[in-house]
Amino acid sequence: MTITTTDFQRWASAHQQRIEVQLKAALPSAELAPQRLHQAMRYVALGGGKRVRPLLAFAAGEVTRADVGRVAIAGAAVELIHAYSLVHDDLPCMDDDVLRRGKPTCHVEFDEAIALLAGDALQSLAIQLLAEHRLADDPSAQLEMVRLLAAAAGSRGMAGGQAIDLAAVGVTLSLPELEFMHIHKTGALIRAATLLGARCGAALDAAELEQLDRFSKCIGLAFQVVDDVLDTDATTATLGKTAGKDARHNKPTYVSVLGVADAKKLAGELRGDALDALDGFGERALRLRQLADFIVLRKF
Ligand code: IPE
Ligand code: IPE
Ligand code: MG
Ligand code: MG
Ligand code: MG
Repeated sequence: MTITTTDFQRWASAHQQRIEVQLKAALPSAELAPQRLHQAMRYVALGGGKRVRPLLAFAAGEVTRADVGRVAIAGAAVELIHAYSLVHDDLPCMDDDVLRRGKPTCHVEFDEAIALLAGDALQSLAIQLLAEHRLADDPSAQLEMVRLLAAAAGSRGMAGGQAIDLAAVGVTLSLPELEFMHIHKTGALIRAATLLGARCGAALDAAELEQLDRFSKCIGLAFQVVDDVLDTDATTATLGKTAGKDARHNKPTYVSVLGVADAKKLAGELRGDALDALDGFGERALRLRQLADFIVLRKF
């Protein structure tokens, strides 16, 4: 059977719509007090973004034949953490960005205090979602899922990576230091999305779990390498966020350390490693393979 790109696009678009519906239902109505906070949460979480993390959850859920309703909850939870991380990443005290997903950033559209609180509340809502819906038949498995997402967002995960990123402005990082930063600031949530999606379904054996974990780590690192490349290679119009800002802000990136050509080469190698990790999964991992391609070959 020939699987076309169109088939992947149809799958991705159907699952993006599912996540949109899930997020709309989970987010408090904008009419509910405090209205401005709820407006800001909906402004940043709805109607934009590639939804790569939920798509990874759905794709990993296909490996374990998970119930899509359960995966949608897990995927929405990860996307809420991601949305929060973007709101805070854009604040003047961090990357000081004015454009996100083609719209003014949260602190520009609302104000800094609301942006800070919207981020806080999105994070709480993510954990609440994971806790209040049945995602696994075994309660201890579900508790482990909550722990996984909380840890991925925390100081040993995304927030820790962001702290390293800020401390590294103007500093020349070695390749291992750069990798450590990227694995945390971006890789941790991508890994969590993949593992959570899989955990909504049948248990994997230890070897399969190790393979999926390896896939998620390779693709998580590749994701940020490509993000670094696009910052220099793409335009503000296609990205929906300001291009060229890493160099302007003196950020250590794969482009600043390796140059564009070698950074692209590395992304390609990581894609190969990610695909190798899926050996033996067969058709069940079709969407994961297609997502690996999308993550590395994307233009936005
Ligand atoms: C941007 O993430 C921030 C990084 C972690 C690199 P995405 O490229 O997934 O942003 P959206 O969700 O599509 O806007
Ligand atoms: C952000 O990395 C990673 C997060 C945890 C949000 P970047 O700062 O490179 O993300 P963009 O380029 O602003 O989207
Ligand atoms: Mg940043
Ligand atoms: Mg940024
Ligand atoms: Mg970036």
